[in-house]
Amino acid sequence: MNPSLLIQIPFFPEQASNFAFEIDLFYLFLCALTGFFTVLIAAAAIYFLIRYRRRSQGEVPEQIEGHLKLEIAWTVIPFVISMFIFAWGAKLYYQMYTHPEDALEIFVTGKQWMWRAQHPDGQREINELHVPLGRRVKLTMTSEDVIHAYYIPAFRTKTDVVPGRYTTSWFTPTKVGTYHLFCAEYCGTQHSGMIGKVTVMEYSDYQAWLRGVPREKSPAEAGQQLFTSMACNNCHLENNTGRGPSLQNLFGTDVKLANGATVKVDETYLRESILNPGAKVVAGYTNDMPTFQGLVTEEQVAMIIQYIKSIGPKQGAAPTTAPPAPATQGVERPAPPQAAKPAAPQGEQPKQD
Ligand code: CUA
Repeated sequence: MNPSLLIQIPFFPEQASNFAFEIDLFYLFLCALTGFFTVLIAAAAIYFLIRYRRRSQGEVPEQIEGHLKLEIAWTVIPFVISMFIFAWGAKLYYQMYTHPEDALEIFVTGKQWMWRAQHPDGQREINELHVPLGRRVKLTMTSEDVIHAYYIPAFRTKTDVVPGRYTTSWFTPTKVGTYHLFCAEYCGTQHSGMIGKVTVMEYSDYQAWLRGVPREKSPAEAGQQLFTSMACNNCHLENNTGRGPSLQNLFGTDVKLANGATVKVDETYLRESILNPGAKVVAGYTNDMPTFQGLVTEEQVAMIIQYIKSIGPKQGAAPTTAPPAPATQGVERPAPPQAAKPAAPQGEQPKQD
């Protein structure tokens, strides 16, 4: 029944995601097509070499005029074939870059030379990724330093992880097991060591695994603490009476800017507004907000964004189940902006630094 068995080739990685079978099929199609034309052209070349060889000294070859039908055929046939390749490739690309709304969202940060992942309820892991079988998983990724690429060969997914922006990748794991995770973009001397493991577990095992990992604050809870500790809440009051716009029910909406343009509130816009507040000032407000560039790490920015999402309009099946921490709760980290340094989360020092 499993279609992947039809084309399981020994020297390919296992097929362990929803994309793997069709990508392999596409790849095999390209190889077969290339092989077919390589043989055809080589055979034709050899045949013509012999058939039209020079048979005597001073022989004058017969001049051949064009052949319209032949010329149309060798234009139209390759055109149809290449359009078929384009359409199939575009369809696969579209599927991979259109994220399902109901996916389990895991936040990934690349850093020379390690991968950190944070699950919706706050579980963290380094150079590992645990995902449940048969559930859609979406990775939202960014880098603390240079460009990396998150590559899981068994899933046939490879996505650049770029400093200064969020990239996403999604898949549905289809086979329990442990698979390679590679960095696929040269990122410094330890690039080849920036590897890890992806473990696909039955959903119940995944739940048990989640329970077994010491749970830290969920990203949204940590973001709420940062929001308070960095005094964001002094200006962003709930009812638009503060110096900054209210962030309640903001995520996913369109806001009017001071310059008349409209922008959709997504992760990238929120991140930009935290690090470069003057870039897109909301209509009715002035550019008063200081930049938080250098005061927050990419992970902390992501936490604040998760908090803003958590107070936004309800989205589909938001996987965060933990209740938000009370706003009055004590803050142990980070210190207020003046003293804050971009710091790796406790107990998560990179191997090399
Ligand atoms: Cu990170 Cu190569």
